[in-house]
Amino acid sequence: MKFLFINGVNLNMTGRREKGVYGSLTLDQINARIAKYFKGDECVFYQSNIEGELCSRLHAAADEGFDGIILNAGAFTHYSYAIRDAIAAIDIPVVEVHMSNVHSREEFRHTSVISAVCRGVIAGFGANSYILAAQSFKL
Ligand code: DQA
Repeated sequence: MKFLFINGVNLNMTGRREKGVYGSLTLDQINARIAKYFKGDECVFYQSNIEGELCSRLHAAADEGFDGIILNAGAFTHYSYAIRDAIAAIDIPVVEVHMSNVHSREEFRHTSVISAVCRGVIAGFGANSYILAAQSFKL
């Protein structure tokens, strides 16, 4: 299968920021684990801190033959109608991912404006959230 893993704002700081919440693996290390786990599949990785770039990457993905997109939009999850509309604009299924259990954290993290246009949501399993989300496409 062909997967696109998209990480949004501040996820490039993973491994350096709030280690008690997000762990000490860097995003490159997390991506390397994912690529190893799905070594028989094609995994493409993308990260941006810029909302519009994330939308453009989603648009471009529509013509790149992906079976699924695994998206951790970071804080954009909670308020970006632009990313919500970009997901709705493409036919590829998207799984929303969070490393932390957003429902056990601050109130503002309990709201996701993208969940309604995603196939499902995986949250709370640390770096394994990405693997669980991609695995869902194989079931
Ligand atoms: C996050 C949760 C978000 O609330 C937060 O803004 C992030 C990371 C997670 O992976 O747990 O940046 O998406």
